[in-house]
Amino acid sequence: MKFSTKLLLSLLFFSVLSFAVIIISVNQAIDYFSFVTIEKQMMEKADICELSFREILARHDKSESQAQPSDISKSALEALKAAGREVRIYDENLKLLGLAVDGIIINDPSPVIFKESIENALKGNYSYNVINNGLIYFSIPIQDRYYNNVYVFELVEDISYFYDIMNKIRYILFIGAGGFILLMTLSSLYISRKTTKPIKYLLGETEKFSKQQFDHVYLNRKDELGMLAAGLNQMGIQLNDYIQYQKQFVSNVSHELKTPLAAIRGFSQYLFEGENENEELKKVYYHLVNESDRLTKLINELLVLSRFDKATQDLDTERTDLAELIDGITREYRPKAEKKEITLVTKFKKEIFVNVNRILMSHAIANVIDNAIKYSNPKSQITVEAFVQENKVVIKISDQGIGIAQSDIDLVQERFYRAKNSQVANGSGLGLSICKEIIEKFNGHLIIESEIAVGTVVSLIIPLE
Ligand SMILES: Nc1ncnc2c1ncn2[C@@H]1O[C@H](COP(=O)(O)OP(=O)(O)OP(=O)(O)O)[C@@H](O)[C@H]1O
Ligand SMILES: [Mg+2]
Repeated sequence: MKFSTKLLLSLLFFSVLSFAVIIISVNQAIDYFSFVTIEKQMMEKADICELSFREILARHDKSESQAQPSDISKSALEALKAAGREVRIYDENLKLLGLAVDGIIINDPSPVIFKESIENALKGNYSYNVINNGLIYFSIPIQDRYYNNVYVFELVEDISYFYDIMNKIRYILFIGAGGFILLMTLSSLYISRKTTKPIKYLLGETEKFSKQQFDHVYLNRKDELGMLAAGLNQMGIQLNDYIQYQKQFVSNVSHELKTPLAAIRGFSQYLFEGENENEELKKVYYHLVNESDRLTKLINELLVLSRFDKATQDLDTERTDLAELIDGITREYRPKAEKKEITLVTKFKKEIFVNVNRILMSHAIANVIDNAIKYSNPKSQITVEAFVQENKVVIKISDQGIGIAQSDIDLVQERFYRAKNSQVANGSGLGLSICKEIIEKFNGHLIIESEIAVGTVVSLIIPLE
């Protein structure tokens, strides 16, 4: 998963989580405080009703005639019938003595009675029940002058408006939550983009470093990322200096060695061809010629590379008949192939013309053919094909040789790298890297496909203008 996606997801996760906690707590708080408010309102109402009820009780106590509970409840109901949406009076035996709805005393034979709530009130406590349709049954104990709970006065109120308000608040809260999450998503996106942008830039620059492109690395910020960019820039400068120094060194040494080596090569050839009866000495001279040949080839290749490193202007190119060019190279390499009884086959369907530098292009193709011969088994076949595919020219050299391990395929294109199984032939590990650089000069690229002990196919691909 990408760093920016990870950052975005964690930012979103934590903000949604914290907001969910806030929503749940606010929801709970709304529930709690609304009930506290309702309870308070009901208590205040209850206090007034209780006072009035006790006044009626006191009045009946003062009158000489013995008052019946039904008379008392009647007077109380008459006085308090409009105190609530519904008003009820119970005696101490939970018997309903009277009931009024919307200020009118009525005779309801089977009303809903919350026995537990009434029993609780008879113990001297306020008690209430809320039912689904938003009605609250609030029971108030009424004491006589001896502080006995003799009646229960019950107020029924419609508190559905309160639920409506609570639901509206919740609705607003959830809309707010939706907006918040949207805002968080957008800001997380923005933050993750903004944070990863400089990281992506630094990543791109380090990738360029690996291709030996040392551009100036700079971030206009004073934090750790700015410091990292400055550090990378410094590292790039040092690396570039080091590589340039190394290349210059190799180039100078190659130049210095070229002349003495030519002399050594000339003298050893002279000695080898001279009249000498001593077989042992002949072998030594032969070896000297071979070794100086090898060294000359190495020096020449190093000089080609150093010329590439220094080259700033474009190459001279000319319209070249590819079939003719390849024929020339294969003619040159046929004797070497024949020594190993290798058949060198060429396949061209039609004339192909490309705009290249003839010398460099032959150098590149020759290097690959040279490899194919060097790393092939005797009595095998090498095929050199050239064809046009999707506006590109493909030169394909296939052999039936020792092959290259998958892990080595990218590395063999680097300077001085030789695969683990390459001891079968001499070499300095420069041929393919030169070939690659030449092909890249023509805006092309190299594809190497290979299987150990089966063979190798090297394709040189260059675009047709
Ligand atoms: N056709 C091939 N079959 C098997 N291995 C190959 C083939 N071509 C290249 N290689 C491997 O790739 C390595 C690099 O090839 P390259 O041509 O750069 O160097 P070299 O042949 O060793 O030396 P040089 O070409 O400089 O004389 C070789 O050492 C060899 O291990
Ligand atoms: Mg080679």
